[in-house]
Amino acid sequence: MKVDVLLGLQWGDEGKGKIVDVLTPGYDIIARFQGGPNAGHTLEFNGQKYILRSIPSGIFQGGKINVIGNGVVLDPLLFKQEAEALAESGHDLTKCLLISKKAHLILPTHRILDAAYETAKGDGKIGTTGKGIGPAYTDKISRSGLRVGDLLHNFEAKYSAAKARHEAILTSLNYTYDIKDMEAEWLEALEFLKKFTLTDSEHTINNALNEGKSVLAEGAQGTMLDIDFGSYPFVTSSNTVCAGCCTGLGVAPRSIGEVYGIFKAYCTRVGSGPFPTELLDETGETICRVGKEFGSVTGRKRRCGWIDLVALKYAVMINGVTRLIMMKSDVLDGFDTIKACVAYTVNSKEVTAFPYEADDSLEPVYVELPGWKTDMTKMQSENEFPEEFNAYLSFLEEELGAPVEIVSVGPDREQTIIRYQEN
Ligand code: GDP
Ligand code: IMO
Ligand code: MG
Repeated sequence: MKVDVLLGLQWGDEGKGKIVDVLTPGYDIIARFQGGPNAGHTLEFNGQKYILRSIPSGIFQGGKINVIGNGVVLDPLLFKQEAEALAESGHDLTKCLLISKKAHLILPTHRILDAAYETAKGDGKIGTTGKGIGPAYTDKISRSGLRVGDLLHNFEAKYSAAKARHEAILTSLNYTYDIKDMEAEWLEALEFLKKFTLTDSEHTINNALNEGKSVLAEGAQGTMLDIDFGSYPFVTSSNTVCAGCCTGLGVAPRSIGEVYGIFKAYCTRVGSGPFPTELLDETGETICRVGKEFGSVTGRKRRCGWIDLVALKYAVMINGVTRLIMMKSDVLDGFDTIKACVAYTVNSKEVTAFPYEADDSLEPVYVELPGWKTDMTKMQSENEFPEEFNAYLSFLEEELGAPVEIVSVGPDREQTIIRYQEN
């Protein structure tokens, strides 16, 4: 069998968690392949709401194996808090969650370094989630990181050396901090982590594929936050794109099956960086209010704007998207007209290919489509879709060159419409 991949096509928060949960019954293994607790994946069902950070969104459907892959950076303390909260609500993960020994650890000093680097950048700050993601991946790439597998061999000496190295950097930045309490809790959390199956998950996944089992890989962040293809330097520190699934789980490119690309019917971004279709007006405020566009974890207000098809086409190309999923359609229910950006003007020239100079000088070129002015939140099937909504879908499919197979009309698991199309 193959690994199907579900990943964000915009700047994150597209609704990945919700759809992974919806698709989980069709898979044997659900695996996270990159990112860490910078993610906040929201799931709602039976009147309950859960926000997952490092734990895959396949844990609620029962009987599945969930994997935290080698490409993930894991903070043991945040992981413990997340797993304990889930255990309290009746979801014991010790039997259904495997953690790669090759996943890198986020140390307490990584979090402090994240804050120190942001402070040093001043107005040019990235607006990170402050979870130590950048510094942890920096150590990975510079070959000085600590991995989950290190917990089992001579950990104290390796930890002290890494901490001393980080402290020297912090001193050079004149950054004052106090990690005593956090560090004590973090060290305690290491024992908690050891209760889980720490393994070479690339073997688990490849063996499962060879036995005919199916795997769904869950992306975090979004394509426009990718370290290579995103709006650099305002990006995260991992490969959020489909290729990241191969390195982040240890699966060969030929093992990749469907690539689900997920996007909102409009667009949001949290943190700094270019956002060509951002709306700094009443319309942007309305989208933010109706869409409840505030960070799942940080509570930060998300910047809102119209859908950007230049960026989306780029994301479809980089990822080789085979199926599209459109989220939060209901948020546009009240609009008379809806705009979609089909090109940018740069120095009075129109471009349709996402440019290197993706900065604030890009002026979006819009087409305008009629709104559907219908409450879609209770719809159960595509037969109920208003004509204008179908027209919006057809327009997007035509522009993006892939079918929209799932439409989401509300945050609940049930508010999901699967369209059965002939490919
Ligand atoms: P993720 O990081 O990609 O998993 O997305 P987040 O959980 O950070 O953000 C998506 C937000 O939108 C969450 O609050 C979801 O509960 C909510 N959501 C998901 N799908 C829909 C939808 O179709 N309509 C509405 N109104 N909200 C949705
Ligand atoms: P999910 O998986 C939205 C953004 C941050 C910041 C930049 C770098 O929930 O979609 P980092 O802490 O990774 O160094 O921050 O990336 N960012 C996200 N934005 N959704 C996310 O995850 C994000 N993870 C990171 O706001 O701009
Ligand atoms: Mg999120």
